[in-house]
Amino acid sequence: MSERWDAPVFDKEKILKYDKPGPRYTSYPTAPYFHEGFGIKEYEKEIKRTNAATEPPPLSLYFHLPFCQSVCYFCGCNVTFTKDKSLGDLYVDHLLLEMDALKALMKPSRKVAQVHWGGGTPTFIPAPTLKRLWDGIMQRFEIAPDAEIGVEIDPRAVSEDHLRVFAESGFNRISMGIQDYDPMVQKAVHRVQPRELTESVFDRCRKLGFNSINVDLIYGLPYQTAERFSSTVEKIIAMGPDRIAVFNFAYLPEMIGHQRAIPREAMPSPMEKLNILEMVVDRFTSAGYVYVGMDHFARPEDELCRALKDRTLYRNFQGYTTKAGCDLYGIGVTSIGQVGRCYVQNHKELRAYQEAVKAHGLAAFRGVLLTDDDLMRRDIITKLMCHFVLYKNEIESAYGVSFDETFSDALSDLKPMEDDGLVALHADRIEVTPLGRLMVRNIAMPFDAYLRKPGESKRFSRTV
Ligand SMILES: C[S@@+](CC[C@H](N)C(=O)[O-])C[C@H]1O[C@@H](n2cnc3c(N)ncnc32)[C@H](O)[C@@H]1O
Ligand code: SF4
Repeated sequence: MSERWDAPVFDKEKILKYDKPGPRYTSYPTAPYFHEGFGIKEYEKEIKRTNAATEPPPLSLYFHLPFCQSVCYFCGCNVTFTKDKSLGDLYVDHLLLEMDALKALMKPSRKVAQVHWGGGTPTFIPAPTLKRLWDGIMQRFEIAPDAEIGVEIDPRAVSEDHLRVFAESGFNRISMGIQDYDPMVQKAVHRVQPRELTESVFDRCRKLGFNSINVDLIYGLPYQTAERFSSTVEKIIAMGPDRIAVFNFAYLPEMIGHQRAIPREAMPSPMEKLNILEMVVDRFTSAGYVYVGMDHFARPEDELCRALKDRTLYRNFQGYTTKAGCDLYGIGVTSIGQVGRCYVQNHKELRAYQEAVKAHGLAAFRGVLLTDDDLMRRDIITKLMCHFVLYKNEIESAYGVSFDETFSDALSDLKPMEDDGLVALHADRIEVTPLGRLMVRNIAMPFDAYLRKPGESKRFSRTV
């Protein structure tokens, strides 16, 4: 019998068969269903409602620090490209104002279990300014002693001063963008990042005591082949990060202008991408990493693996986390929050964000309030994606439904996947098999009520 943390089984034919556009389910409903009818007023109401609870959940605070000095052609993140460092100071002023507005609505007893600084490149902002931001957070919120405090760094844009500020402020997680060490790939994506530089930043982080370091790689970049990328993978294994994300390149040149700078003919074919993925899964799992779920690997002793085993793993906008059940407040331009029953997103343009904060304190411009049906389906999708198993009685007792009756459509959609060996449909549970793990999005999709509308899945990138 296989365990949920065993290595996934790779079958190219099946993966190609199921390769179709689909959501990544960092939220449900997915972002295209956020609407401008949910704005600051509605957000405020939901914040007040959740804070009126006798024991509201702990807080998770996400800060989006959007600046980058130079464009990586593959980048799909929300970034403001600039060389003007003074923008950082002004931006931090606005983050502090937004926090003031949130704090005023917050029950003072609520503790922060998680802080994450993402980007853009947080370390574009000079170290003293980041220190000012950290002090501002500490003045406004109480951070739990065991809080997870993380930051994304670009080794090309980080100084000793930055690393010291993080270490001295109590940051305990570092996430480092690497993507691919191959000089030809680096040149084609306009991100030249010598291996020596990356490794020296990694070593420095270890020396400063960071014992949870994640690295980001991307597969599907121009000129990548399984053979060429394997050399990057070997070097990463030798370096020994605690977690590894290997993102599937979301290539959307029609929507993301700078991706058009990548020559189309340099893109690996779907078959080559599969060869790369197969090599990646094989090498990392053979080296002892556990496949935690979509794109993510972790050392067996990492708490993500423990959470996978005891079914407490959770997934949100920042990826996999052990901090399930927090209210996630998104702070800064374009940030997305998940508070109570809602998702909410701040203005995506820097100027609109800053003007909204000055005028209202908060800067929400769209969101969605979840229905009971949304909450139940989100729970199902999350469990399938994070635990690779779903116990029907847990849904039945939480939501007062008969699982087989309510989800008869989904169960019949899953039948062909069972015939293909991706999933096992038991009387009491749905189990994702080792073969189905790499196609878990496809297994979740039948439970997505929004995809049942014709043409809806075309909004998303492909599943593999
Ligand atoms: C905000 S960046 C990380 C921090 C820093 N800006 C850097 O690049 O080092 C987040 C990660 O998203 C991933 N990423 C960006 N654009 C992507 C795309 N189009 N498809 C897949 N992954 C992407 C990259 O792996 C990148 O490291
Ligand atoms: S990948 Fe990172 S450094 Fe490159 S443009 Fe995107 S956010 Fe900036």
